[in-house]
Amino acid sequence: MNIAMIGAGYVGLTTGACLASLGHRVSIFDIDVRRTAQLRQGQVPIYEPGLAEMIEAGVANGGLRFHDDLAKAVENTAAVFIAVGTPSRPDGSIDLSHVEAAARAVAPLLRGGAVIVVKSTVAAGTCKRIRELIAEERQALDIHVASNPEFLREGSAISDFLEPERVVFGFDDPASGEVLDRIYRPLASRTTIVRTSCVNAELTKHVANAFLAMKIEFVNQVADLCEKIGADVTSVSRGIGLDSRIGSSFLTAGPGFGGSCFPKDTRAYARLARAHGVGQSLVETVISGNQARRVALADRILAEAALVPGDTVAVLGLAFKANTDDTRESAALAIVPRLAERGVRVRLHDPKAPMADELRHERVTWSASPYAAADGAQAVVMLTEWDEYRDLKIGHLKRVMSGNHLFDFRNLYAAEDVTGAGLVHHSIGRPAQRPRELGAVPAHARIQPRAAAGRRLRTA
Ligand code: UDX
Repeated sequence: MNIAMIGAGYVGLTTGACLASLGHRVSIFDIDVRRTAQLRQGQVPIYEPGLAEMIEAGVANGGLRFHDDLAKAVENTAAVFIAVGTPSRPDGSIDLSHVEAAARAVAPLLRGGAVIVVKSTVAAGTCKRIRELIAEERQALDIHVASNPEFLREGSAISDFLEPERVVFGFDDPASGEVLDRIYRPLASRTTIVRTSCVNAELTKHVANAFLAMKIEFVNQVADLCEKIGADVTSVSRGIGLDSRIGSSFLTAGPGFGGSCFPKDTRAYARLARAHGVGQSLVETVISGNQARRVALADRILAEAALVPGDTVAVLGLAFKANTDDTRESAALAIVPRLAERGVRVRLHDPKAPMADELRHERVTWSASPYAAADGAQAVVMLTEWDEYRDLKIGHLKRVMSGNHLFDFRNLYAAEDVTGAGLVHHSIGRPAQRPRELGAVPAHARIQPRAAAGRRLRTA
């Protein structure tokens, strides 16, 4: 089938390349002509495992093309996917202006009977709104609108697309359902297809992400308690997760959720519900709890490593999770500025993510390796679960550091490996463990800032 994709961002590129790999002819349009030019030259602007190879194969066999001319991209297409950005507005609601502009732009160009498929994450009710825009643009409603939310995780987006647990089709007319059936026929035998109305499909996406975010915030709150009472959150998570009613995924405690979806989608969901006068106190608590967590973790570093202005901390990991170069709403974006504002020098490292503009500060510098970042540092803080950070030589790290605190906020290390190398192991959801030679910390002496030139850091 001839398919057009509006938007060559993360979702549009991945979905477009995967649809081409299923045998469809896919034309990807982007308003950014530099981006389409780059893609035509074989340069893929985002890092996603397997994506560059898939795009190369699609271009080579003629199944995938990049356009900066919208009319050419949508010519003779039976379906046009809209996969443009839906950023958060300051009040948490979704800015749908790019989706609406894309719908208005394609509406006059489509042949009768074509289907506009909304792939971008939108507020429930958006398909209805798009139908109104189309009626204005064409003075008729002879094209259809459907919803097909994406559930792709960065880092495993291609297998998430090709081996999905479910695919959701939202449509309010039979013709749209038939077009979606034809598009996804190659996957139909390997997955469950949920056929429902547009509004249900739109809401399903937000509710799925709100629920997953709630699991994470829940386990993070459990982790806080575990640290206080000498329990281990990893063991508790495993113990509850084996109950299939709970499920073991998304119960890994850490520095809070980030990325382009969970923070934005939870805010949008809560805002939509509030606009309809239906409080969503659970999700609102998740949003505020996740934000507060980052502040609390920064303060924990300052206090437990007893940092004073002028001290150096190595922060390993800018990406919001491993296997992506995406830094949107990552833990580092909240924790690093708080450390720098307290006079601490921060050395950053990430194997894939670039320096984020939000972190540019006179006390924040970039390091070429984890060991270079740790050189002379009082503390090392691990924020992303990159494999590279799981394999560090802790003894070497200790030798280059001037302090002895490892904040392992992704629980990458066994405490004995860290304490055995002479570092204090501060992890998530387990009490801190100190090397034997340092002895136990008497309760009254815990979290006392190191006395240096009489300067103490305020952490609140
Ligand atoms: C998410 C959804 O999983 C996907 O279905 C949706 O369509 C887009 O949003 P993504 O943002 O790529 O995907 O990342 P995901 O793997 O879901 O992780 C989101 C955040 O939660 C990351 O910061 C991750 O580190 C954190 N997380 C995840 C945890 O802290 N604990 C967990 O157990 C799982």
